Amino acid sequence: MLAAAVKVLATRRYPGPALDELDDVEVLALDALEAPREDVEGLIVANEPVPLELLPGLRIVANFGVGYDRIDVARCAERGVVVTNTPGVLDAATADLAFALILATRRQVVAGDRFVRSGRWSGSWSEGGLAEELSGSTLGIVGLGRIGSAVARRARGFDLRVLYTRRLRADSDLGEFRELDALLAESEIVSIHAPLRAETEGLIDARRLALLRDGSVLVNTARGEIVDERALVAELVSGRISAGLDVFAHEPEVPAELLELPNVVLTPHIGSATRQTREAMTRLVVDNVLAVERGEPPLTPVATLSPETL
Ligand code: 8YV
Repeated sequence: MLAAAVKVLATRRYPGPALDELDDVEVLALDALEAPREDVEGLIVANEPVPLELLPGLRIVANFGVGYDRIDVARCAERGVVVTNTPGVLDAATADLAFALILATRRQVVAGDRFVRSGRWSGSWSEGGLAEELSGSTLGIVGLGRIGSAVARRARGFDLRVLYTRRLRADSDLGEFRELDALLAESEIVSIHAPLRAETEGLIDARRLALLRDGSVLVNTARGEIVDERALVAELVSGRISAGLDVFAHEPEVPAELLELPNVVLTPHIGSATRQTREAMTRLVVDNVLAVERGEPPLTPVATLSPETL
């Protein structure tokens, strides 16, 4: 007997062909959901808060993204709603962007681009401010998970020395473990790859930012809320450090002070934004919904912490 199609709401037309494999999918933004929808059993979101009270028949929330910090997983679990995410398929794209930001910031690529476009380049080669070499420097990875590990593997090709922190201390041949404060003080480049959780919100606070070496580079492709944004802005305005930032505490707002700074490279949360990766994310989202439709366990459920461990 064929499993009955799960009625799915998708908050946007997610990229790629996989979405068409769902027999009963309706594209509707969550703010257009005014009255309860008892028919909806599946919800596809991009890290958006789930209005459980409006979706009493919900069975699965399939998140398009690895980070699910805006989804109340504990409440979903209480209601018997499974939450899935898209781990793994975006590691390469996000690690590539982290490296793009490391290189762009360290080698002043965006400042150089602005200089050329402004028409101020007058010599046959630029004798302006010299950058610091990337090769041979020390990269500190905050969070050696899937994406952090992909960054560490890329670091080998750039002859970087890699230090790392991770929640559960374990040795790795990808680098040397350090406690966070020691890593910040020792690295010339720090790249953040931790998920946003209660214990990582504001993790890189003013005190920890002050531990960064003069002239060092901070790269964030994870979540803006992991860094105290006001304190970061103050450090950047002072010119003591540089940063490559793909994420911000209040997206799409970017602190106005950053917009004119030469020591900051800014991108609009594009870590996973390649065609291949975004299509693979949709594929995994759809496979999770199809598994639930067939009465099978979802492929990539997020970990639910029992109340005792919260
Ligand atoms: C998404 C991300 O673009 O996967 C994540 O955690 O931040 C990005 O890949 C965004 O979350 C939309 O889901």
